[in-house]
Amino acid sequence: MRMLLNNLQSSLPHTVINENVPLSPLCTLGVGGEAEFFAAPSSIGQMHILFNLAMKENCPVYVLGGGSNVLFPDGLVKGIVISTQNLNSIEWRTPITADIDAGFKLPALMKELRERGLAGMEFAAGIPGTLGGAIAGNAGAGGHGVCELVDQVITIEADGTIKMRNNNDISYSYRKCSLSEGKRVIVSARMTFRTAAPKDADVLDSYLLRRGTQPHGLRNAGCTFKNPEGNSAGKLLDEAGCKGLCVGDAIVSDVHANFILNRGHAASSDIMELVKMCSQRVYDSTGIRLEPEIKFLGWSDPCFCV
Ligand code: EPU
Repeated sequence: MRMLLNNLQSSLPHTVINENVPLSPLCTLGVGGEAEFFAAPSSIGQMHILFNLAMKENCPVYVLGGGSNVLFPDGLVKGIVISTQNLNSIEWRTPITADIDAGFKLPALMKELRERGLAGMEFAAGIPGTLGGAIAGNAGAGGHGVCELVDQVITIEADGTIKMRNNNDISYSYRKCSLSEGKRVIVSARMTFRTAAPKDADVLDSYLLRRGTQPHGLRNAGCTFKNPEGNSAGKLLDEAGCKGLCVGDAIVSDVHANFILNRGHAASSDIMELVKMCSQRVYDSTGIRLEPEIKFLGWSDPCFCV
């Protein structure tokens, strides 16, 4: 690993690679151990070199966006965590079309659209995180997903190539995107919006109103589980008596049962145990296996099987 670090660092004079970097400040749940190596390249070129070298060396790679939907384990996370936080530019190609870096924050994009009188992403009001993470998980609400606005996506592939895909060549479904299968980094996307109409503001307000029924104030990672087809994970968890369940400082919100909160000093293992407990309760009472929406990165055991 020392060799790898030296190789990486000498090939990347403009990107600092740090060791033993705490992950909890980088994740909205505020939990997680330390990354053995951590880097946040400031250009797609630097990201390309770094990702290629790490892949060639068989070094485990974890790509981190806004940290709003992930859970790293406690302790040392072997390998390299590559953050997209410094890939954060937006370039307008036409009045309605922009090339946006993967690390660009969704709330910043919403602000940019409002200032430019553009619409189309009202459903994303209040969703945290970065564009890259949003595309990888097809983030959305109310039956809409980020994929609806995407024209093209640029990725760095495990074989070292840089690929530009038209959106038609990517398959999306509820909280799913084919780009998440296999190792690659989403580095940028071209998106097209539309001119806002007066009713768009009302639509946006209605999404914010629904968000208002979700917990805020305490650290969380959004919805813990995906909604099973035709059902609501929050409702199922509520009916299974999960609200208020806790492990250490990890607690299931009593406002919305699909949110796990860190009320102070929760460990990742507390969150994980609570996720499993909730899943088990729903399975025992309904026979439905909930699929986690939170991504478990760097866990060595097959950590989600109940
Ligand atoms: N419900 C309960 N008890 C609860 C929570 C919800 O009975 O503890 C009931 C509600 O009363 C409602 C139904 O379950 O009848 C659905 O709840 P809600 O309207 O809160 O929507 P949701 O399906 O739980 C989805 C997304 C959210 C998004 C909201 C609002 C998923 C898993 N969740 O929540 O997205 O913010 O709609 O648009 O798709 C996220 O992805 O991280 C997320 C939070």
